[in-house]
Amino acid sequence: VHEMIDLLLNHVSIRKYKDKEVSKEVVDTIVACAQMAPTSSHLQTYTIIEVKDKEKRKTLAEIAGGQKWVLEAPLALLFCADLHRGQKYIPVTNKEVFHNTDLFTVAVTDTALAAQKALIAAQVLGLGGVFVGGIRNDIESVHKLFALPALTAPLFLLCLGYPDENPGLKPRLPREVVHKVDYYDTERDDELLANYDAEVRQYYQARTNGEIDDKWTERCGKAISAKERNHVGYFLREIGFLQK
Ligand SMILES: Cc1cc2nc3c(=O)[nH]c(=O)nc-3n(C[C@H](O)[C@H](O)[C@H](O)COP(=O)(O)O)c2cc1C
Repeated sequence: VHEMIDLLLNHVSIRKYKDKEVSKEVVDTIVACAQMAPTSSHLQTYTIIEVKDKEKRKTLAEIAGGQKWVLEAPLALLFCADLHRGQKYIPVTNKEVFHNTDLFTVAVTDTALAAQKALIAAQVLGLGGVFVGGIRNDIESVHKLFALPALTAPLFLLCLGYPDENPGLKPRLPREVVHKVDYYDTERDDELLANYDAEVRQYYQARTNGEIDDKWTERCGKAISAKERNHVGYFLREIGFLQK
C-alpha cells in the first residue's frame, strides 16, 4: 500500500503527548497545508487561532469538561467558521447573503476541510492529535475569550503534539453501510449494524478492561444526550448566522 494511504488508514486520536515542543517551522507547515484545502468559491471562510496563552488553555480545558489534553498539548489550534472577513471585504449586491443558512454550511464545511488537512499534515510530520468539540459547551465564553467578531464561530480545537500513547484503531461502520451505489439501499443495514454493535462492544471491553460495556448505538446515544447544546443554535443566531 502507498505510504500516504497507510497513514490515512491508521488514524487514531492522540490525547497524550511527549514533552517536546512543536517548532515554528512545523506549525507554519501545518497551517500552510490547511490553507491549501479546497474551499467553496475560493471564499476561505475560516480563521485559525493558535492558543499559546496558558490561562486561555486552562479556561478551554474547563469549558470542554476537564479534558486535560487541552491544557497539555504542545500545540492547540482553534478552528473558527468565519464569515466576518467576507462580509467586511467582499462586495456583494445583497449584504444579507452572509446571514443565510447556506453560507453557514459553506463556512462550517470549509473549516472542517482545512482542519482535517491540518491534522493529516501534522500526522505526516510525526505528530498526533485530537479534535475537541467540547469547547462548544460554552461557545459564548469561547467567542468572548478570543475577542471574535460577529459572524465568526469557534467550532473546535485541534490539540497536537508528539504521541506518547498508542491506542488501537477504532473500528468504523461496515463499508456497505456508508458506501451505497446509485440509491440508498438499506436492505442489509439492520444486520450489518447489529454486527457492528457487537464489534464495538468488544472493542471497548478490551480497551477498558471490561469497564465500558456499550454497543456502538448505546455509546453514541449517551454521547449525544450528554451534550445537548441547544444554546449553540441561539448563540450562532445572535452573532449573525442562520438568519434566513
Ligand atoms: C469535530 C470533532 C470533535 C471532537 N471532539 C472531541 C472531544 O471534545 N473530546 C475528545 O476526546 N474527542 C473528540 N473528538 C474525537 C472523536 O471522539 C474521535 O475522532 C472518534 O471517537 C473516533 O476515534 P479516532 O479518532 O481515534 O479514530 C472529536 C472529533 C471531531 C471530528
